[in-house]
Amino acid sequence: MTVVVLGGAGYIGSHTVDRLIEKGYDVAVIDNLITGHRAAVNPKARFYQGDIHDRAFLDEVFNKETNVEGVIHFAAFSIVPESMKDPLKYFDNNTGGMITLLKAMRDHDIKRIIFSSTAATYGEPKQIPIKETDPQIPTNPYGESKLCMEKIIHWSDLAYGIKFVALRYFNVAGAKADGSIGEDHHPETHLIPIILQVAAGERTGLKIFGTDYPTKDGTNVRDYVHVVDLADAHILALEYLKAGNDSNAFNLGSSTGFSNKEILEAAREATGQPIPAEDAPRRAGDPSTLIAASDKARKVLGWKPQYDDVKEIIKTAWNWKQTHPKGYNDRGEA
Ligand code: UFG
Repeated sequence: MTVVVLGGAGYIGSHTVDRLIEKGYDVAVIDNLITGHRAAVNPKARFYQGDIHDRAFLDEVFNKETNVEGVIHFAAFSIVPESMKDPLKYFDNNTGGMITLLKAMRDHDIKRIIFSSTAATYGEPKQIPIKETDPQIPTNPYGESKLCMEKIIHWSDLAYGIKFVALRYFNVAGAKADGSIGEDHHPETHLIPIILQVAAGERTGLKIFGTDYPTKDGTNVRDYVHVVDLADAHILALEYLKAGNDSNAFNLGSSTGFSNKEILEAAREATGQPIPAEDAPRRAGDPSTLIAASDKARKVLGWKPQYDDVKEIIKTAWNWKQTHPKGYNDRGEA
């Protein structure tokens, strides 16, 4: 049986492909390589370069991969500020891509999908920690595009029997412990990799976006999960559906919040570098505090994250950064 991973050359996708292979699964990867990296894909996975909007391409893949036990779908855009400027790009790629994929799954009789949803579907939370049953009222088009995906898959389940698990990620960080794969975005917008670019001397300083939020030190509070722990949750979710359980949605977080200033301090300790920083205005679309209630994933899926110390998470990202200062370009990739 084969697991097809869409977006398997991206940051979270490539770590999930790697974990699937380590655990003995047969894996096929689909990626258009717009934001992903061919070198990030474990060489034991079969690779198909193409786009999820391209129905003929999906048919070609699913005609070759005839024994698919499930699909894990990461292929989406995920930058909140970009989505505020160009919402149609997000609805087209994320929501539209999901429709094409589901049609192909329906026609090829593939009945299980695990997909990347997000804490951004909740918007400004009504309570902390955020529970899966809390209202989903996104404050940006990225979150709305993912919420639409959750709704479309729900109705596809009822109509076509395609079972799903929506995994609502909070903040993801870190890299595989051996430093062979890691995070490589162009441009980089995320806090921890930007801090590490400063630590490595590639940027002069960090700008802390907003210091007047109603939090312990005025900066945004986020809930960080190690990328390998996140990857493992996808595999547990697939096994959950294979065991005959019904469709479901889970938060993936640590239930602990760190302010941006606390992350900066942890990174200073993890790297031993001074990492200069300055206060800057708020960034559009940022909720004040996002912390997950994540007991449901632990209880129902049996998820047991291995990393519970944010400094250890940052150390794995720093290891990747130091061994791959130019990301995957170090491997001769264009
Ligand atoms: N930040 C800075 N300076 C920077 C970059 C980020 O202060 O140079 C701040 C942001 O303003 C925010 C925090 O660091 O307060 C974290 O920002 P990230 O961009 O790293 O992550 P986000 O919390 O904005 O977004 C992440 C994912 C989204 C997802 C969201 C849901 O990237 O896809 O979590 O929680 F929707």
